[in-house]
Amino acid sequence: IPADAAMGEYRAGDLLAPDGSSVDRRVFVDEGLYRLEQERIFAKCWLYLGHESALPENGSFLTMTMGEDPVILVRDKTGRLRVYLNSCTHRGARVCRVDSGVTTSFKCPYHAWTFNTEGQLASVPRLGPVYGDKLDRSLHGLREAPHVDSFGGMIFASWDPQAPTLREYLGDMAFYLDLMLDRMEGGTELIGGVHRWTINVNWKIPSENFAGDHYHVSSTHGAGVEMGYRSRLSNDGYCIQTGNGHSIGSERGGAQQGTAVKTDYDAFIAQMRSELVDRYGESASAFVPIGVGTIFPNMSFLDSARFRSFRVWHPRGVDKIEVHSWCLVDKAMPAELKAAVRKQYSLAFGPGGIFEQDDGDVWQSVQDNLRGHIGRQGRFNYQMGLGREAPTSSRYGPPFPGSTSDILMTEANQRAFYRHYASLMADPRCKP
Ligand code: FES
Ligand code: FE
Repeated sequence: IPADAAMGEYRAGDLLAPDGSSVDRRVFVDEGLYRLEQERIFAKCWLYLGHESALPENGSFLTMTMGEDPVILVRDKTGRLRVYLNSCTHRGARVCRVDSGVTTSFKCPYHAWTFNTEGQLASVPRLGPVYGDKLDRSLHGLREAPHVDSFGGMIFASWDPQAPTLREYLGDMAFYLDLMLDRMEGGTELIGGVHRWTINVNWKIPSENFAGDHYHVSSTHGAGVEMGYRSRLSNDGYCIQTGNGHSIGSERGGAQQGTAVKTDYDAFIAQMRSELVDRYGESASAFVPIGVGTIFPNMSFLDSARFRSFRVWHPRGVDKIEVHSWCLVDKAMPAELKAAVRKQYSLAFGPGGIFEQDDGDVWQSVQDNLRGHIGRQGRFNYQMGLGREAPTSSRYGPPFPGSTSDILMTEANQRAFYRHYASLMADPRCKP
């Protein structure tokens, strides 16, 4: 993007190096930029809302947010998935106040306007006496997101009428997502509900961390490594940028369990491996477990040898997020193994998990340090591994999509994240 393009009240070139190798500290703390993100990122990008396994029947719904906008995701009378702004068209109240359920209608608690699962205003109390024939109910349906679609059981939506299809938006990331979501007969499902907690940090800090930051593992998670929870880290692995700001990063062969953890997954993993090779071939199967990754802007996942988890970093102001986190398993897993996987997920990356706590503490310190006048001056550095990216196929054999580095520890994924961020945030009408 041109250095002179407007980004709120700033010039893009003053906030971000064109190659993404440095980012101004104000990007994480400026209220104006945060408002602009709500418009140009969260009201445009495809955002994850829920898993198909959570909406089994017509009338099943859940509430979620897209950026700061509250929404209802519902399966309507015909089975179609729809997304509505969870705000009454009368005078704005939250129409649906529970997390999930099954219903035929949503009744606003303020004055009881009632909407059906097709979003239409189905009934208005005392319609004739108070409005006469002046209120046209057909003009007051819930505001509906124009695009809802799913991939591998994961449901996404976008508010942008001009949005590309979900498949186009995911682009090359779809190849790696397939390897994570659809490796065995029956696919994947969520177990154990959702964990929710808050962290006082800007949403981009965890998004870029989960994009592939193996550099922090030995230090931030040094205690967990020391205690034998996981193996020590080498630099053998890759960080792959798949376009549109999405990326993954993994140690070759995935994170290995340390000596302190005893699990008996071997028989199942052997069966999973053979199904995987049948489906995708030997060389693609070498990318499993996928490692960590971020689907731009704020959905991340972690696929390790012991568990799979994914989470959304919902922005709640410029310096706060609400994390929603789930544990994912292959449907084909035996029940005891699912229970063991869930336990491993909770111990490491549940809200009280040893690794989750390490990360949250460090991230919060980053945000705390941006509060002062001096602390918000200067730039963060993302130059690690600059210039080492090459097509993935040239290193690992065709047909693997994306660009990759030949080392695990690089900030190539973060640079790709911020280049994409800048391309969305900069005003395209503003030419130098
Ligand atoms: Fe919903 Fe009045 S605000 S019925
Ligand atoms: Fe971490």
